[in-house]
Amino acid sequence: MTTTLDGEVGSNFRLFAGRANPALAKEIGAILGVELGKISIGPFPNSETRVQIEESIRGTDIYIIQPTCAPANEHLMELLITIDAMKRASAQQITAVIPYFGYGRQDRKATGREPISAKLVADLLTTAGAHRVVAVDLHVAQIQGFFNIPTDHLTAVTTLTHYFKDEQIDNGVIVAPDAGRVKLAEKYTDMLELPLALMHKRRSGAGGGQVETAGIIGDVAGRTPIIVDDEIATGGTIYQQVIALQSAGANPAYISITHPVLVGSALERLSHPAIQEVVTTNTIPVPQEKQRMNDKIRVLSIAPLLAEAILRIHQHRSVSKVFFDQKLVFPV
Ligand code: R5P
Repeated sequence: MTTTLDGEVGSNFRLFAGRANPALAKEIGAILGVELGKISIGPFPNSETRVQIEESIRGTDIYIIQPTCAPANEHLMELLITIDAMKRASAQQITAVIPYFGYGRQDRKATGREPISAKLVADLLTTAGAHRVVAVDLHVAQIQGFFNIPTDHLTAVTTLTHYFKDEQIDNGVIVAPDAGRVKLAEKYTDMLELPLALMHKRRSGAGGGQVETAGIIGDVAGRTPIIVDDEIATGGTIYQQVIALQSAGANPAYISITHPVLVGSALERLSHPAIQEVVTTNTIPVPQEKQRMNDKIRVLSIAPLLAEAILRIHQHRSVSKVFFDQKLVFPV
């Protein structure tokens, strides 16, 4: 895909990649017309992370691309140490571009004596020296408020809905998998001009690990559902939901998610015949071997959106204008 941007980044700009998603960083670099900055990251013999910036970054504006996906602690620590190295190398401004914000699901105390790990991660990033964060489809938008530095919260909704527009799905219905995703589902209904159905999901057990679909509100019989969510991790939730939709007479479903976490039995669950296709982005890499295990997974690139946002931030231009122009009135 060719993306044309309005302007260039100039000479005091550097783009770096951690080890979590170098392919995405390279793609962003190609769109912006820059090479990735020189950095070496590896383990010390005692398993600690060693980072060395291999070029002068004094006085530059740095953008470091690092989703904190699995192994989450490894990737998070790597990001923190890299930011620290950049701060101590006298970078002028450090922006942590975190396409997938790990620990986002731990955004509140769901039961007593639990941490709010998402807030802790936000504090750690600030302490390390980040001046700004760019994230895509945070688990809940309120996580923006956990940061006391500017946070640009982007959404993959336009990337994903363009795909469905091109597919021209007959008799579709947008399905919100739980009450928390109704606002997200409404963006899809607005952009694709499709009706909405809502599923009633209940969680129980340790860490809310057991999921039960207690009902469907809306007309799904004979329709093709597009279930929208932020992520699929083990696929347990979505599996329950497609079965419930199938029992209610729906056609095989499309699933539209931003973050392909895809751990545990996810690939196996997503091969169920009640699933037509899983459309996602590359905020987290989906290696070829995973895609080969399940040919229903279609990965769209989030690089054009991130490249445009980075350029606009660097040029002190409006980021939300990108979404307003696409008639996505409320970005997230
Ligand atoms: C939950 O609130 C999220 O939006 C996803 O539905 C959840 O993270 C999916 O997890 P899993 O695939 O393990 O059921």
